[in-house]
Amino acid sequence: MRVGVLTGGGDCPGLNAVMRAVVRKGVQAYGYDFTGFRDGWRGPLDGETVRLDIPAVRGMLPRGGTILGSSRTNPFKEEDGVRRIKDNLAKYEVDALVAIGGEDTLGVAARLTDEYGIRCVGVPKTIDNDLSATDYTFGFNTAVTVATEAIDRLHTTAESHMRVLVVEVMGRHAGWIALHSGLAGGANCILIPEQRFDVEEVCGWVTSRFQASYAPIVVVAEGAMPKDGQMVLKDETTDSFGHVRLSGVGEWLAKEIESRTGKEARTTVLGHVQRGGTPTAFDRWLATRFGLHAIDAVRDEAWGSMVALRGTDVVRVPLAKATEKLKTVDPALYEEAGVFFG
Ligand code: F6P
Repeated sequence: MRVGVLTGGGDCPGLNAVMRAVVRKGVQAYGYDFTGFRDGWRGPLDGETVRLDIPAVRGMLPRGGTILGSSRTNPFKEEDGVRRIKDNLAKYEVDALVAIGGEDTLGVAARLTDEYGIRCVGVPKTIDNDLSATDYTFGFNTAVTVATEAIDRLHTTAESHMRVLVVEVMGRHAGWIALHSGLAGGANCILIPEQRFDVEEVCGWVTSRFQASYAPIVVVAEGAMPKDGQMVLKDETTDSFGHVRLSGVGEWLAKEIESRTGKEARTTVLGHVQRGGTPTAFDRWLATRFGLHAIDAVRDEAWGSMVALRGTDVVRVPLAKATEKLKTVDPALYEEAGVFFG
């Protein structure tokens, strides 16, 4: 059996750890051979491969990014996409594919399996943790750890200058990173895409924090939006999913806070720092277990399945489930955090 492996979508700490586990168990336990495909679905589309064997994955457990490269290429948007993939799988004698990715990558894997009989197994990844089929995705814990460390550091500089520090974290559609890092870092308030915020209320929290002689830290997810009427139309932008969002919400909010409270405010946009570098121990553990279970799914010919975490168990769910529903922050969880606001 020759198994192809690809990583698609935004990179995420733990991708190499998944591959290492897939290859180590695949070679040692089942005697499989592997072919890496470069840049997500672009690899099988264009026939671009990377050597993938035990020496190639040596030392990969702590390494961020992906040695295979990644892209958001979608074969269904390319001319003759499915035929090109089939031809290249035949050319390289690849019998099955392990696709590691988010909604888009796994959505393609689901269609290729269900509609075209291409034998795929999926491994979910996203730092956003917004896939409903799994309790956690690897990469999320690393992103939260990076954001929490940044918030810890921002506390001391905020206090030294008695300024407001607004921290913009990733999360276009779900506020998991904001909620977890905001709670872990002791933020003054946390703003998430799931709940529109009231700028006046945020300013009230900021003011009360100053009255208690603390400098406020405001954590805002990049997809958070103020209530209707609190921003001017030119601030809006439409993202690649067709969702309206406020571009540069952190910068925008700091300006609003300054003008409404008279307090100095600064913004830190954490951006891709949250996605780069070495995965945390938790993410290495989760990525490794996902890899081990994914190659077992190949051995069991469980085509069209995806590995997922349920509690502490790794289970198999249909690949189609990965794209079924976005996992957003439960309002009760957000309300629970609200006791610390202000
Ligand atoms: O989905 C992962 C993610 O990092 C989001 O949190 C973020 O909004 C987006 O990807 C950024 O995408 P890009 O790297 O293409 O700018």
